[in-house]
Amino acid sequence: MLQTLKPVPPDALLAVTEAFRADPSRDKVDLGVGVYRDATGITPVPRAVRAAEQKLLARQTSKAYVGQGGNRPFATFMEKLALGSNHPALRDGRVTTLQSVGGTGALRLVAELMRLSGYAREVRVSNPTWANHIPVLQGAGLATAAYPYYDIAGGQLLADRMLEALDACEPGTVVLLHGSCHNPTGADPHPGHWTELAELMDRRGLIPFVDLAYQGLGRGLDADAAGLRLLCERLPEVLVALSCSKNFGLYRERVGAVMCVAEHAAAATTAMSQLQALARRNYSMPPDHGAAIVAEIASDQALLGDWQQELDDMRDRVNGLRRSLSTALRGELGGGRFDFIEQQAGMFSMLGLPPAAVERLRSEHHVYTAPDSRLNIAGLSGKEIAAVAAAIAAVSRD
Ligand code: LMR
Repeated sequence: MLQTLKPVPPDALLAVTEAFRADPSRDKVDLGVGVYRDATGITPVPRAVRAAEQKLLARQTSKAYVGQGGNRPFATFMEKLALGSNHPALRDGRVTTLQSVGGTGALRLVAELMRLSGYAREVRVSNPTWANHIPVLQGAGLATAAYPYYDIAGGQLLADRMLEALDACEPGTVVLLHGSCHNPTGADPHPGHWTELAELMDRRGLIPFVDLAYQGLGRGLDADAAGLRLLCERLPEVLVALSCSKNFGLYRERVGAVMCVAEHAAAATTAMSQLQALARRNYSMPPDHGAAIVAEIASDQALLGDWQQELDDMRDRVNGLRRSLSTALRGELGGGRFDFIEQQAGMFSMLGLPPAAVERLRSEHHVYTAPDSRLNIAGLSGKEIAAVAAAIAAVSRD
């Protein structure tokens, strides 16, 4: 059987890390895969996470399975984090949440739920979108198509074109939206656009599927979820993939959640039964550690406050890096070609460079971006900004 399989090329984004590791240069800079780094260049374990882990370790007496839906206090906390503690959908009991294997696991479970429903067959994704969105959706048997979102060369959100394209979608179409910190562009809809999106999706019978993977890293915990909260107020159904990889620094623990906002409580209960069955068929039982850490932090006001403080500090640092890089690029190139970097939010911006320039960044300057010229700004320690700006300027001039 195995000899009938055809080889698959390595994942192009993850391959950037491999290429970076293989580069012997001492000046190399890894701005590929999205991980936050501090001023010393490491991806820290947040203080609150360390403290929670110690408490858990001291207390844990068993490694027996956690229940099928995962850690319930974790799920309740994630709902409140995403929606705010007093959201009408929570008061109405229309929300149900299942712990998932990272944000990607949540995306996959939602995709399988959609295919099972037989109702939602096509998913519209932004152009561009995270490199793994389409493989995850198509891997679950769904058809995908793009909606206009961003002018890569001009560094601008195409809000009007997005709204126009979505207005022409068939009722029942699922629209994948990035809750905040759009990956790969860093360009988010403004509050007014979210209002228009909610009105349009309600009027056209479209189903929002929100990927909220960077809550707190763009403009703040509440501001980054404001669009999602509005959709959940205005629309009968919203599907959500949540992740704790970035905002809790729990990347390798693979912790996230699927949140379904249903039209009424009974539909939410049914959705949960289906999600549990899907999870059982996929991996049987959820892992414990990451969700237990988040639940431990949530249960302790001091840890919760410390986590929020560290998250605020991370966000401020990334925004500072954005400003410094924009300034350095203005110094190199004059004009404002890359000013959008300063105006955008979250970990990423896209330089809009052709593949040959991306290749030159690597081979001549040892600066590793994603293949589509996405830059993980949160991966800069800060010391390399002048060199990175000089390298980008060098390959942009020609
Ligand atoms: C990224 O976009 O770089 C991250 O979400 C990591 C990944 O799995 O692609």
